[in-house]
Amino acid sequence: DEAQLEAGFQATIDRKDRIEPRDWMPDAYRRTLVRQVAQHAHSEIIGMQPEGSWIGRAPSLRRKAILLAKVQDEAGHGLYLYSATETLGVSRDELTEMLISGRQKYSSIFNYPALSYADVGTIGWLVDGAAICNQVPLCRTSFGPYGRAMIRICKEESFHQRQGYELLMTMMRGTDEQRAMVQESVNRFWKPALMMFGPPDAESANTEQSMAWGIKTHTNDELRARFIEMTAPQAEALGVTLPDNELDWDEFWTVVKGGGPCNEQRIAHRKQAWDDGAWVREAAAAFAGLDTSSPRG
Ligand code: ACO
Repeated sequence: DEAQLEAGFQATIDRKDRIEPRDWMPDAYRRTLVRQVAQHAHSEIIGMQPEGSWIGRAPSLRRKAILLAKVQDEAGHGLYLYSATETLGVSRDELTEMLISGRQKYSSIFNYPALSYADVGTIGWLVDGAAICNQVPLCRTSFGPYGRAMIRICKEESFHQRQGYELLMTMMRGTDEQRAMVQESVNRFWKPALMMFGPPDAESANTEQSMAWGIKTHTNDELRARFIEMTAPQAEALGVTLPDNELDWDEFWTVVKGGGPCNEQRIAHRKQAWDDGAWVREAAAAFAGLDTSSPRG
């Protein structure tokens, strides 16, 4: 019966084994995973926009090639994560509709604009750095497909973080204007990057249950503190000053609820891309329905 199934499920989690798609799971566990993994997938895809806007304006062929590869990686991460979400019984079409209609969230950080080329470096260093700090523990999350996707994603995120740091280091060796551009960019991104970890533990509605289920293994504040500690010596080596760590949680909730600087633009762009791609999805579905096994098929 249900109680026995639930006890077996919890025992699997408690001995740090994985829950797989065909295993029994409580509805609330499934719902929480769909919420978190879909939000994560949407963040990867929406996250292509701020940096993508710099591909056509990169200062050299080398920088352009790096940025192009990085933004493509983010698309790949979105696809791994949508696939992991699909194993829970929702389709990618449904998830995309929920994103576009505002019923599912994506990370607050991608509602801030990339205003200067230094932002490409800062996003790699701080935003992808924060993402790694949050995602390395998720490699051991209790749901198998999510944890396995995280392993591949973290490897690529490490490259992203390093390319960002290297870009900033190059600018810091340049002119006074370039150094000022880096500092200005870090000033704008530091607090939004710290907010990526989610609200303070006391206001985090989901943490306790998600930790009991082994979906999360650390609280939001624990990971935020770890990130600050990791980043301080990197800032020193780079020669930039990090702003203080006082966060404005009203700003965070405004951005999460759709009122950030770029929310409307991000969703409008995503919707446009989804609508423009309709013919590709239709053609792929029609092709899948064809008998291609015969030479004339
Ligand atoms: N941006 C937008 N919404 C957020 C953010 C954020 N940075 N942080 C928290 N929220 C939302 C939560 O989704 C939740 O709302 P919901 O219940 O309607 O879904 C609410 O704020 C309260 O937060 P928590 O209870 O703390 O939520 P949760 O336990 O899910 O923790 C966290 C949030 C830490 C972001 C978690 O979901 C997580 O680890 N997700 C995976 C990582 C991820 O999504 N990264 C995306 C950015 S990194 C990148 O793509 C490069």
